[in-house]
Amino acid sequence: MDTIIEVKDLRREYVTYKGTIRKKEEVVEAVRGIDFTVNRGEIFGLLGQNGAGKTTTIKMLTTLLAPTSGTCKVFGYDTFGQEKQIRKRINFIFGGEMGVYRRLSGRDNLRYFANLYLMDTAERENRINKILELVELTDAADRLAETYSKGMIQRLQIARGLINNPEIIFMDEPTVGLDPLGAHMLRDIIRKLRDEGKTVLLTTHYLPEVEELCDRIVILNHGEIVARGTPDEIKGDAATLEDAYIALIKGDAS
Ligand SMILES: Nc1ncnc2c1ncn2[C@@H]1O[C@H](COP(=O)(O)OP(=O)(O)O)[C@@H](O)[C@H]1O
Ligand SMILES: [Mg+2]
Repeated sequence: MDTIIEVKDLRREYVTYKGTIRKKEEVVEAVRGIDFTVNRGEIFGLLGQNGAGKTTTIKMLTTLLAPTSGTCKVFGYDTFGQEKQIRKRINFIFGGEMGVYRRLSGRDNLRYFANLYLMDTAERENRINKILELVELTDAADRLAETYSKGMIQRLQIARGLINNPEIIFMDEPTVGLDPLGAHMLRDIIRKLRDEGKTVLLTTHYLPEVEELCDRIVILNHGEIVARGTPDEIKGDAATLEDAYIALIKGDAS
């Protein structure tokens, strides 16, 4: 099996200062020594409550945030120090963000982002057509993005995240705020990406999504891994994955 993400004893602290006169230092241990690997072609889920450390982990994996300590490797390269070797080959989508120009059409949005990568015009137009097809926006491609529904905007974000044909796509809560149909379409797209051989690492706290999509997951709680495995393995003898999840999260708190 081809391991393309490797995380070992990874830690990240945030230091903040409180008060105005006598500044008091406060350290938040957002990620407290986690280990996992992701294989090429997997849909891998990072699960956990708000504040569990999911976004911090994704930011370290996508070269946007330096680890405090530990190993964080993508394609065998350090995400901090060797980020140049990684960036061209990955992309990411942070759910809920509005990285879309509303006064441009969907197609022109994609052209704009394509131009940030070096691509000739024919290659760019081909790629954009292919991606529009994948995210089912072909018919709406030449309408202004401001006329799009939330689900369409989210699909356009995914399209944007595919513009450099990344081998790994990181998605932080991709279905947050979507209605059931929007979320369903998004899950279809994620499966199509896997069928194309892409690796997807996503975070969510929506359990049916995990059960439906993810090959393997880790559950984070207060910055630590409290469970790992296939959704079935984690479910174990519990009636539902949700029951198993709640027990794990509560068990850790008591
Ligand atoms: N920039 C920051 N400065 C200080 N604390 C932060 C910052 N970002 C996140 N945190 C804290 O780190 C912890 C983990 O946050 P985060 O990684 O965003 O979790 P999640 O994505 O699972 O909700 C939380 O306690 C959060 O308040
Ligand atoms: Mg988050």
